[in-house]
Amino acid sequence: MRAIHRGFVIVSSLILISCFAVQTEGKKKGEALNHLYHSTLKTISGVDTSHFRTPEHFDESKLHPQGGLKERDRIVKLPGQPEVGFSQYGGYVTVDKSAGRAMYYYFAEAQQSKESLPLLLWLNGGPGCSSLAYGAMQELGPFRVHSDGKTLYKNRFSWNYAANVLFLESPAGVGFSYSNTTSDYKTNGDRRTAEDNYVFLKNWLERFPEYKGREFYVAGESYAGHYVPQLAHTILYHNKKANKTIINLKGILIGNAVINDETDTIGMYDYARTHALISEESLHNIKTQCNFSSNATVQPVECAVALNETYRDIFYVNIYNIYAPLCTHPSTTSLPKKGSLTSFDPCSDYYGIAYLNRPDVQEAMNANVTKLTHDWQPCSDLIVNWLDSPETIIPLLQECMANGLRVWIFSGDIDGRVPVTSTEYSLKAMKLPVKTKWHPWYIGGEVGGFTEVYKGDITFATVRGAGHQVPSYQPLRALSLIKHFLNGSQLPDTKRYIYS
Ligand SMILES: *[C@@H]1O[C@H](CO)[C@@H](O)[C@H](O)[C@H]1NC(C)=O
Ligand SMILES: *[C@@H]1O[C@H](CO)[C@@H](O)[C@H](O)[C@H]1NC(C)=O
Ligand SMILES: *[C@@H]1O[C@H](CO)[C@@H](O)[C@H](O)[C@H]1NC(C)=O
Ligand SMILES: *[C@@H]1O[C@H](CO)[C@@H](O)[C@H](O)[C@H]1NC(C)=O
Ligand SMILES: *[C@@H]1O[C@H](CO)[C@@H](O)[C@H](O)[C@H]1NC(C)=O
Ligand SMILES: *[C@@H]1O[C@H](CO)[C@@H](O)[C@H](O)[C@H]1NC(C)=O
Ligand SMILES: *[C@@H]1O[C@H](CO)[C@@H](O)[C@H](O)[C@H]1NC(C)=O
Repeated sequence: MRAIHRGFVIVSSLILISCFAVQTEGKKKGEALNHLYHSTLKTISGVDTSHFRTPEHFDESKLHPQGGLKERDRIVKLPGQPEVGFSQYGGYVTVDKSAGRAMYYYFAEAQQSKESLPLLLWLNGGPGCSSLAYGAMQELGPFRVHSDGKTLYKNRFSWNYAANVLFLESPAGVGFSYSNTTSDYKTNGDRRTAEDNYVFLKNWLERFPEYKGREFYVAGESYAGHYVPQLAHTILYHNKKANKTIINLKGILIGNAVINDETDTIGMYDYARTHALISEESLHNIKTQCNFSSNATVQPVECAVALNETYRDIFYVNIYNIYAPLCTHPSTTSLPKKGSLTSFDPCSDYYGIAYLNRPDVQEAMNANVTKLTHDWQPCSDLIVNWLDSPETIIPLLQECMANGLRVWIFSGDIDGRVPVTSTEYSLKAMKLPVKTKWHPWYIGGEVGGFTEVYKGDITFATVRGAGHQVPSYQPLRALSLIKHFLNGSQLPDTKRYIYS
């Protein structure tokens, strides 16, 4: 099976294509490379980097009757699943009838008190990566896939202990989400993603009307640093226009998030240097030869030479967790290895690929009902083009704050791709006065990370020892973070030997 997990293509006027090739066809077992596969600074014309705007007019014809569809979407039991006491749903919501575009969702209701706990939407980034692959199956969902690719085990740190959690594969072309107009795969971008996500949500809330007025939060990581505030902006815009709360959005949470291209990029190289991955000289060359201004359209050849050296240095480092082992046996095992929640298995992508491509799994999940011609992939090969990507989403974060939304920004501190330095530089660019100064926060008798709260209101929190996919590496700390975010309490500044 071919399995290129294309990591996070970050599109900007300064394009950084990082392809994270975990395994390619024809590679012998054990020879699998886990590397930053292709990374170049290049000029791209055609990507619109101007500020995000939402279409002024909401096309009501995109809303369809949803009666009876909820029960049709119920997942009785996933193949190989342990017994659980909460309900699961999965299925398609049509977002554009004439194009034949439909988004796939997976919904895990809360373990208890589903009637009172909030609704949380989780989005992964890419662009092109699946919230089912990462969010649901490797990060914060109720199950993880065993190494046999057939059975599941429970995640006792699942975020559905704190909320009703909705995972959406977005945009069309990612995972099970599709379009019958396949040219749509070449015309994705931030704007259409936000629009489709909004249409999805409005229809989904008709299908699950008991969640209509519920407190609603949107969270995500990486390139979802764009999707999350853009969806928030769209919701705020339509609420305001209608002069009523159409969607009861209360806050947003983004982790290791793409926020501001220029500071994100500089922060990445500074992190690589301060974590002893590249030399002082390399960093100096990059900083003097490359122009990280988001308006720079031409890079001198010296910049490419300087970057080349960097890529050679970090070739065999898992850039998404610089201290993690590589996946040396990228295949499933005939018998399941004992699954561990506290020591993340670097081959997890392969278990998910095996599991989610099984016909019985797809049938149980009400997925792939139109028999798509491509495989399910954690990061889609179909998304090769991206039309628009603003150079910064800071104005949208400011808009969220001005509208009284809770805004939290977290960062796993051993991610080298969108590292903690990038996030700190982006926050600094916002020039916010400090409200609660930097201090450690605690969970389980340990320092969970560090936090600083700014006036406005925005909370920044690091998660100690976590890579790019924070809940994969530090599930207890991540669960504590989401619990505090959802109930609006500050992260605990005193050490206690209790799990909360
Ligand atoms: C896509 O086409 C298939 C086959 O014609 C059809 O069954 C399906 O409903 C279409 N999807 C949408 C979202 O219209
Ligand atoms: C919006 O609604 C509020 C109360 O629901 C009302 O007082 C106000 O006049 C409305 N504003 C507009 C512009 O219609
Ligand atoms: C890029 O150019 C735009 C329009 O010319 C300008 O508004 C913006 O401030 C520039 N950004 C930077 C980082 O120089
Ligand atoms: C970087 O590019 C921008 C936009 O083209 C330009 O204004 C700026 O002078 C450049 N900076 C350097 C150091 O060359
Ligand atoms: C970067 O390295 C690759 C492979 O070693 C080489 O083919 C390419 O010419 C180099 N590019 C520059 C600009 O040095
Ligand atoms: C959908 O089903 C077809 C036929 O079983 C299969 O070949 C294809 O890989 C599946 N695609 C996805 C995205 O699940
Ligand atoms: C908020 O959640 C945290 C973590 O579960 C808990 O310790 C705290 O007591 C809660 N606070 C409120 C006000 O509910």
